[in-house]
Amino acid sequence: MRKVAFIFFIFVATFLLASCNSGQSSGIANEDGERLIRVGFSQADFTESDWRIANTESMRQALSRENGFDLIIVDAQNDPNKQLADVANMIEQGVDYIVIATVQEIGWEGVLQQARDAGIPVILVDRVAAVNDDLFVTWVGANFREEGETAVRWLQGFRGYDVRAVHLQGIMGSTAQIGRTGAFEDAAAENGWTIHASMTANWDTIQAKQVMENWLTRFPDINVVYAENDNMADGAIQAIEAAGLTAGGYDGITIISFDANRRYLQLALDTGKINFNVECNPLHGLRVAEIILALERGESVPRINYVDGEAFDWRYLTQEIIDARTY
Ligand code: AHR
Repeated sequence: MRKVAFIFFIFVATFLLASCNSGQSSGIANEDGERLIRVGFSQADFTESDWRIANTESMRQALSRENGFDLIIVDAQNDPNKQLADVANMIEQGVDYIVIATVQEIGWEGVLQQARDAGIPVILVDRVAAVNDDLFVTWVGANFREEGETAVRWLQGFRGYDVRAVHLQGIMGSTAQIGRTGAFEDAAAENGWTIHASMTANWDTIQAKQVMENWLTRFPDINVVYAENDNMADGAIQAIEAAGLTAGGYDGITIISFDANRRYLQLALDTGKINFNVECNPLHGLRVAEIILALERGESVPRINYVDGEAFDWRYLTQEIIDARTY
């Protein structure tokens, strides 16, 4: 009898081990024994900006075990090659879904074909991938070109044709940089604005300050900074003030920014140092969770899911507006 029991135990153990290792990710369960949906999230970079930190936290909160998910988040550290390897590893692990905020739009064909061949749906967030539509299920994010057009429309109204600008760009090749840059460059061409210089500061405050310090010595007539995110606007403001000049307000160098993080809206309200800030809502987590649950139910989902955003002119900001902000 004992021998039969032993053989049965070996059979059951082998079966369970096989089902866990057969790439079937359904082996993960919560405390109630309910199957968790395994999601691999490849984030461009954990610490790149205030925006990115809020975006990661939003995904972590929405794709929680309590909500029925087993979330694996991997930091690509803004290294496109690492990100491709990270996603390939998620495919190897046999996750149920892959979510990606791409560092760069290019280079995704091979890995996303692997995901498709493995039957793993891919959801893009924030940034896009330059691939055929059949290689990802849907995309959630902001319309970056429209954000830029909102900014340049405001600048036209505030400064007319008198724009002598410098341009702090995000990481080159990222979807946000492409959209915001395109809108600014097109508006400059249409309005005869001067763009003394454009350069990436990789979304980073310190790099932006260093670039701006150099520009201030070379271009004494700068009257506009077009910074593609708050953290770089912050660096530019620091450099402007270190040079004994004024940032923002009616009489200083006009500062245009993107993201509208709460602390930078507060800066604008308290000091006027950021004249106009275009929101880029980072809170994608709930939308992604809804999409995955819809897919689990066999429902179709829209291919494009824009997140709404506002824009803030420092003259009309109130503490009430800022206190109501969620990030
Ligand atoms: O893709 C969105 C951009 O990436 C944000 O504007 C920037 O702050 C983030 O790092």
